[in-house]
Amino acid sequence: MSHDRDRMKVLIVDDDPVIRQHLRQILKDIYKLSFATSGVTALEKAQKLMPDIILLDIIMPEMDGYETCRRLKTCSVTANIPVIFISSITDIDEIVEAFKSGGVDYISKPFKSHEVLARVETHLKLYNFQRFLGKKVEEEINKRLVEEQMLIQQSKMAAMGEMIGAISHQWKQPLNALGLMVQDVVDAFVTGEADKKYLENFAKQSMKLIQFMSQTVDTFRNFLKPTHEKCTFDITEAIYDVVDLFYDMLKNDSICVQVNTDKMCSIYPIGYPNELKQVILNLINNSRDAINERRKKGFLTDDGRITVEIKEVKDRVVVYISDNGGGIGLTLMEKLFKPYVTTKGDKGTGIGLYMSKAIIEGKMDGKISVSNIEGGAQVVIELPLAKEV
Ligand SMILES: Nc1ncnc2c1ncn2[C@@H]1O[C@H](COP(=O)(O)OP(=O)(O)OP(=O)(O)O)[C@@H](O)[C@H]1O
Ligand SMILES: [Mg+2]
Repeated sequence: MSHDRDRMKVLIVDDDPVIRQHLRQILKDIYKLSFATSGVTALEKAQKLMPDIILLDIIMPEMDGYETCRRLKTCSVTANIPVIFISSITDIDEIVEAFKSGGVDYISKPFKSHEVLARVETHLKLYNFQRFLGKKVEEEINKRLVEEQMLIQQSKMAAMGEMIGAISHQWKQPLNALGLMVQDVVDAFVTGEADKKYLENFAKQSMKLIQFMSQTVDTFRNFLKPTHEKCTFDITEAIYDVVDLFYDMLKNDSICVQVNTDKMCSIYPIGYPNELKQVILNLINNSRDAINERRKKGFLTDDGRITVEIKEVKDRVVVYISDNGGGIGLTLMEKLFKPYVTTKGDKGTGIGLYMSKAIIEGKMDGKISVSNIEGGAQVVIELPLAKEV
């Protein structure tokens, strides 16, 4: 015989001591039994002992079996315990009532011992299986929840990492420019060039760079916001904002930037002007790097040249950024927009074009492509034109 604590618990509820005794004889060798003599004590014992099954008499003084069962079913701790009714009632309506009140089975008196044993065993098996399934489902749900939360956390971290990467990438040029300017102040002081006009210009230019850097932080914070609103903007103005900012630095490298627009009036795409500025900065940087590299190798004798052309074609704004930096190798061409693709070793991270594509195509419903032209590379950006200005 199995150990007491391993045995399943059966609560027998009947006001008739003869029945209680009879049931005890049938079940005592297999199950751990407890008894209640009324509905009220049955409810108390059920909550306290948490039986695995309850055998419940229907006709009892005070609270009958139906009511007892209904109450068991409304209490969350006892709701799932299977209840088998035991009664001499044979009226079909009464039997239906027994099932309606929450019973799982019905044994009529007088009962045979093997019938009681069989029914109790069957319902305990069912109940155990149900509990097993319930536990499995709960475990699975919990596992999913944890996994989901981890994914959310991971994607948040990834987004944050990407944002920080983007900001530090975009800060390199303005920081460089700022550094050059600060050094220049010292030189200008030594040579006596640092007059009032010089200093005013210095303050103005460095403030612009600082503003751009602070804008960069906002831009990439907004970039991750799903509700970030698109707007109509003057594309020529946006491009000039960037070109002006780095014009001097590029001149230092003997690189001349030219902006051409085919229309007298401005062209207005719809999208995010600050994000577009970040893209333009990336493309100008790439052109500058290519030109400097080409020059270093002695392949470029004239000035470096970066040309930005803005055109309106049907319902689109098309921007061409061309340079004379020698162009891009064919093998590189097909993976250009993948992250971490760089030919610059430690000096490059390879996120410039990846980020640019994410902005233009992922955020602004535009298109970006790269091809080689005579003497260099050309990037083409297309953006949807605003319907109304
Ligand atoms: N205008 C260009 N002329 C020649 N090669 C280019 C040009 N633009 C991009 N490339 C090539 O494409 C590669 C990827 O450019 P991308 O801007 O994604 O990364 P990167 O410039 O190497 O590094 P990062 O921009 O992260 O500092 C460059 O390493 C370079 O070889
Ligand atoms: Mg780059």
